[in-house]
Amino acid sequence: MTDSPSPHEISEQAAAAVKKAVTAIGAASSLAELEAARVQFLGKKSEISGLLKSLGKVPADARRDVGRSINDAKKLVETTLNEQKETLQSAGQSSSADPAFDPTLPGIRARLGRRHPLMTTMDEIKNLLIGLGFRYDDYPEVETEFFNFDALNTPDWHPARDLHDTFYTESDHVLRTHTSAFQVRAMKQFSPPPIRAMTSGRCYRCDAIDASHFPIFHQLDAIAIDRSISFADLKSTLYELAAGLFGKDVTLRFRPSYFPFTTPSAEVDVLFGSKWLEILGAGMMRPEVLRSGGLDPSQWQGFAFGLGVDRMTMIRHGIDDIRLLYENDERFLMQF
Ligand code: PHE
Repeated sequence: MTDSPSPHEISEQAAAAVKKAVTAIGAASSLAELEAARVQFLGKKSEISGLLKSLGKVPADARRDVGRSINDAKKLVETTLNEQKETLQSAGQSSSADPAFDPTLPGIRARLGRRHPLMTTMDEIKNLLIGLGFRYDDYPEVETEFFNFDALNTPDWHPARDLHDTFYTESDHVLRTHTSAFQVRAMKQFSPPPIRAMTSGRCYRCDAIDASHFPIFHQLDAIAIDRSISFADLKSTLYELAAGLFGKDVTLRFRPSYFPFTTPSAEVDVLFGSKWLEILGAGMMRPEVLRSGGLDPSQWQGFAFGLGVDRMTMIRHGIDDIRLLYENDERFLMQF
């Protein structure tokens, strides 16, 4: 007789060791703790290794079965270890021994997209005018010569046509040179007055590119038509708009000007420090234009104004080169 454990006792001890190991492994909350558990339950000094060593003292006829039960126990512990490792790794745990992981570094904020400053400015102007009762609609960018020019008292012999450096597309169509092209469309669509309508979007002129010219630019146009609309209504609307954009103390200057579709016409400047910056063109709608829209000028009057959204955006953000608005350079865009 020897005092070494019986085959039955060895199997029982192996089962007990597995039970302890599985509990401890399941409780490991980091890869470092898991490694400690591996050493404790499978290392040289572990209970399972001890049991394997005692195998030599087991009677030969029982050695195979006892050996198998210890090896099964070992495999079970190994499987449990691997599973827990995967769980911890997929939970974003990284071994604290990994030198690439520094938990004291600040987190990285997700880089979300931004709205383009042109769009924010355009929306602000739109919303101020919606507040004054103007409706908003989109109109075609590929426009007929009729709506872009003729309907606005600019027949093809008119010298003002040359000023626009027009992009022609197919028969009788152009890329709109200004959003004013919407005026007669809106009149036809929303008659009889009162009409208060606006649009905005891309316009195109075949300009040479420099710091203040780009072949694509953005305008916003608005019209108001009713029985008795005066230049005073135009002024009060523009003051209201400018106050909303630049603050209540804004100073505007109306300079006499010329557009084929308005009379009297004005260009409007805003005072910035000691500088006057031109922001829009405006005027009372000419009888010819009202007639193009099917309205009797002896019955209806209207004002119209059109503003450069690019210029407005540049003034508000201190941007000195229009090209920045079209290059989509992230370093520029991320500032807004
Ligand atoms: N369409 C003119 C331009 O592009 C601006 C304007 C609009 C002027 C409406 C008067 C009335 O310069």
